[in-house]
Amino acid sequence: MPEEFTVTPYKVTGEIDYDVLIERFGTKRIDEQLLARLAKYGPLHHMLRRQIFYSHRDLEWLLDEYDKSNKFTLYTGRGPSGPIHLGHLMPWAFAKYLQDTFKVKLWFQLTDDEKFMFYDHLTLDECKKWGYENALDIIALGFDPKLTNIFLDTEYIKTMYPMAVRAAKKINFSTIKAVFGFDNSNNIGSIFFTSIQTVPCFLESMEQGKKVPCLIPCGIDQDPHFRITRDIAEGLGYFKPALIHAKLMPSLQGAEKMSTSAGTDMTIFTTDDKKTVKKKIGNAFTGGRVSVEEQKKLGGDPNICSVHAYNAYFFEPDDKKLAKLNSDCRTGKIMCGECKNLLFEKVWKFLEEHQTRRQKAKDVIEDFFVRD
Ligand code: TRP
Repeated sequence: MPEEFTVTPYKVTGEIDYDVLIERFGTKRIDEQLLARLAKYGPLHHMLRRQIFYSHRDLEWLLDEYDKSNKFTLYTGRGPSGPIHLGHLMPWAFAKYLQDTFKVKLWFQLTDDEKFMFYDHLTLDECKKWGYENALDIIALGFDPKLTNIFLDTEYIKTMYPMAVRAAKKINFSTIKAVFGFDNSNNIGSIFFTSIQTVPCFLESMEQGKKVPCLIPCGIDQDPHFRITRDIAEGLGYFKPALIHAKLMPSLQGAEKMSTSAGTDMTIFTTDDKKTVKKKIGNAFTGGRVSVEEQKKLGGDPNICSVHAYNAYFFEPDDKKLAKLNSDCRTGKIMCGECKNLLFEKVWKFLEEHQTRRQKAKDVIEDFFVRD
């Protein structure tokens, strides 16, 4: 029997079967035909080639509109509850690829309100502080300041609130309970919150005073919010947002969602120093055997290996090199220690540059923020 699993924005448990999730959520797989179509706009991102971004809603429609010179806008976000780790960066790096490929604007929401309402241990000021910290990591990825609007919910609320109440009026409590699994013990802010996450789907339309298509790159755990948005969008006078969904990057511990709750030793933060990164990768869970002799004889299993996952998701964009690592592992030609070293070199090279760009971002943060 396959293990039970749950995926909502607020709870991810069990081992996720991503094929089953497509059926449960009623999304569409990004198939060969759609990949071929996407390849016409520019080289396919490795996260598409490897089916890490693997599911969508209405992406074909969005491209039809784009082909008719009806440009879309991008929207994604972050719940600022703590420091950024590599798993967080993954969908944002993909958003950057979309911005570069289609030359479109990105709206980036920082939901300090959400994290405050959902976590007992955080004050609102702390969430806001994390919002500004996290914005540095976002900017460090290289988004175009002319095409990128970052905003913090509690600060941009004057612009958003009228649309939030229009949305909220169309959503009833039983929908919220069914979609998010909430009950009577949830605070009323958390019940209302999804209407705040809905608004940015329409910000570009509001600004331009006409219906603008919107594409949301996100982890598939965020899809429930936007199912609600899609149900009410046309009633509010807008297009339904299109979505492109990613699988969740595993932690260094193995197959589960890469989450800060997996333990800080099992996630690499963007501000970690060289020694810490080396140590964390050194302790990563792999698909190796109990002894070197056995591994030389039987080979390892990249399918369950977190080092392999890191390469596949982020750090080895070259398909040929990834395939070689894979086969060298299976045939016992490469041992886990060496593989970890190779990963460390790539991760550290990335992080060293990221940390410099993150520092520089402090000087330009206001070029990215939009305010009421
Ligand atoms: N709710 C998301 C989180 O907790 C943050 C978020 C807001 C978001 N808007 C979004 C994520 C749009 C993806 C797309 O991380």
